[in-house]
Amino acid sequence: MDLTLKIWRQKGPEDKGGMVTYPISNISGHMSFLEMIDVLNEELINKGDEPVAFDHDCREGICGMCSMYINGEAHGPDRGVTTCQLHMRMFKDGDTIHIEPFRSDSFPVIKDLVVDRSSFERIQQAGGFISVNTSGNTQDANSIPIGKEDADNAMDAATCIGCGACVATCKNSSAMLFVGAKVAQYSLLPQGQVEAKDRVLNMVKQMDLEGFGNCTNTGACEVECPKGISLKNIAIMNTEYLKASI
Ligand code: SF4
Ligand code: FES
Repeated sequence: MDLTLKIWRQKGPEDKGGMVTYPISNISGHMSFLEMIDVLNEELINKGDEPVAFDHDCREGICGMCSMYINGEAHGPDRGVTTCQLHMRMFKDGDTIHIEPFRSDSFPVIKDLVVDRSSFERIQQAGGFISVNTSGNTQDANSIPIGKEDADNAMDAATCIGCGACVATCKNSSAMLFVGAKVAQYSLLPQGQVEAKDRVLNMVKQMDLEGFGNCTNTGACEVECPKGISLKNIAIMNTEYLKASI
């Protein structure tokens, strides 16, 4: 395929930035989206130009780093995949592809397509954990029976990879799908009960401090989430928050 790429280039956090057009040729449908950007970057480096900065690590849909907004959709036109799992066969010869960073005031652009998502880490640090005494007296996890439905729902919530697509796609820049998943994965398990109240109060407080907006039930986050995190996790978080507040 021969394609036209329109990519957001921004030298640094203070730079105004803008879209830059790059033609690219001989792209195979079997390539991943990031491999296609690798080809472009190799061409740019060979010409002595600055390569496009983008985040990536695992390239297998696990780490949540590859935050790109492609043709107006977080992680591009496919469903249930991250940008690194998106294949070029989703595009056709002659297409123009617009590539931007995930946009939110709480995810400031560092350079080109790289954004700072440390706000998610601060929310996680505020309560997204359980404290377990590891002094040698730890119980075997299987010694506490957990109902199949709760175990399945907790596991589903735990598949959130913290990519930020939910925030990028939400008109309110809401992080409630992410925070809901992190709260729900513990609230459904006995191991998460000890710190349940502090967890939800502290995580929601930090979410608000970071400047994320509120959920207005549009549901765009659920559609664009590469891990299929359900809106019901927001309902679980709201219930936990209410219980902890009274
Ligand atoms: S809820 Fe989905 S879209 Fe949001 S951070 Fe988690 S995996 Fe990404
Ligand atoms: S690079 Fe790890 S999820 Fe895409």
